[in-house]
Amino acid sequence: MTQVLCVAGARPNFMKIAPVMAALAETGIAAQLLHTGQHYDAAMSDGFFADLGIPAPDHHLEVGSGSHAVQTAEVMKRFEPVLDRVQPQAVLVVGDVNSTIACALVAAKRGVRVIHVEAGLRSYDRGMPEEINRVLTDQISDLLFTTEKSALSNLTREGIAPERVVFVGNVMIDTLHRNLARAVPAAETLGAELDDYAVLTLHRPSNVDDPGTLAALLDVIGEINRRVPVAVPLHPRTRGNVEKFGLSAKLDDLRVLPPVGYLEMLGLMRDAKLVLTDSGGIQEETTALGVPCLTLRENTERPVTIDEGTNTLVGPDPGAIRAAFEEVMANGGKSGRIPEYWDGRAAMRIAHALESWLPLRKGTRAAG
Ligand code: UD1
Repeated sequence: MTQVLCVAGARPNFMKIAPVMAALAETGIAAQLLHTGQHYDAAMSDGFFADLGIPAPDHHLEVGSGSHAVQTAEVMKRFEPVLDRVQPQAVLVVGDVNSTIACALVAAKRGVRVIHVEAGLRSYDRGMPEEINRVLTDQISDLLFTTEKSALSNLTREGIAPERVVFVGNVMIDTLHRNLARAVPAAETLGAELDDYAVLTLHRPSNVDDPGTLAALLDVIGEINRRVPVAVPLHPRTRGNVEKFGLSAKLDDLRVLPPVGYLEMLGLMRDAKLVLTDSGGIQEETTALGVPCLTLRENTERPVTIDEGTNTLVGPDPGAIRAAFEEVMANGGKSGRIPEYWDGRAAMRIAHALESWLPLRKGTRAAG
């Protein structure tokens, strides 16, 4: 009998589900893994399963890309029959992507309990598709595991009973701890030994879907690149838009890479002078690594990375990016401390909480 059906769908889910699957196996909780197929390129999906030792999914929905409505609806349609067949005691979802809300919603309507890992983060910006996914997933979750303390007050404000919320720390940092020694040295990924370099990741619709915004960002990155070489593992959405908007020349002098694997990215971040990003997870990983991070967004749902970590919220304005970059060049950037429970043990805390929460029957991982 499967106790927990775990869901992953897009790249940022994979580093979160890996330690959860391992901890469930270690505590003898019978789990199955379902991949929705929201991300499907080898570089966005399979590589992470291999690098992180995630067991092959027991179920694969192969939904692929589409508008938000189409992608979410496809996951829901294809998830329901699997859920009916498996009949788990609970469905566990991670993060805030479309696959997260889609599977949570199907489970909740079927009367299956929902567990949300990385609950309660809020940017308070409903223009972000992820914010809508977070708010709705938390509302229909029965058990909510949080990564930082700000999450509890966000959830309480939304009427979620504090008894349902458990502060466990950050499972993504479990993965970072587990793999840091295996990180691919930056020189190998960059094909050159560089004294100093920066890393840029950019994929948020608010930064890359408007030609003017994207062009202005690439211009200021071009300026930075003349001072410190900038490596850019390029997300498929961003690559597509750069080509569509005729901006390819702006990438010419940058060190553009295809989307890199987890171990490559870890090495790139660890050895960088600074990281510029609009990703959520990278704000947390740079804090864990002690590397200065300039976040090219107006807000963050991860305030502990600012209050305690190495993150600075800069926004998309070129002047502000320039000034923040100069600050890092002048004084080495912000140093921080490691937030509470970002200690590599978060997934084990989840598994232990589940031991008492699930009507447990010990067993091995069930076959698909
Ligand atoms: C999704 C998540 C976002 C996360 C990001 C990380 C949502 C709402 N967004 O955004 O939170 O930060 O993943 O990558 O769930 N594509 C490929 N190959 C792939 C996957 C996508 O080429 O394997 C291209 C397609 O053209 C697709 C586009 O990228 O249309 C966007 O993919 P999608 O999954 O819709 O959203 P992301 O921007 O990746």
